[in-house]
Amino acid sequence: MTETIFSMDGDEAPLTGIVELAERYDAWVMVDEAHATGIFGASGAGVVAKLGLGDRVLVQMGTLGKRSAVSALTSPAVARCASC
Ligand SMILES: Cc1ncc(COP(=O)(O)O)c(C=O)c1O
Repeated sequence: MTETIFSMDGDEAPLTGIVELAERYDAWVMVDEAHATGIFGASGAGVVAKLGLGDRVLVQMGTLGKRSAVSALTSPAVARCASC
């Protein structure tokens, strides 16, 4: 179990290596994409998608709360309201 992007410094987990290790030792990989959802990969699907590991990661979780908050803060509607 690992996060794909760690919040303190934005470090990216060495996911390809983790997946290779897991396959070598017959372990499962679960990733938390809370800090990657909406930012990395095609259509913001996350680091797993960016690295093409979708069929090698057993569980991938994301978040709507953080992504929605970022989307809201950067939306043109919020920019307009900032000067209201
Ligand atoms: C690593 C990680 N995963 C999951 C969550 C849960 O995110 P949310 O509350 O947006 O679902 C958080 C929230 O702080 C988080 O930091």
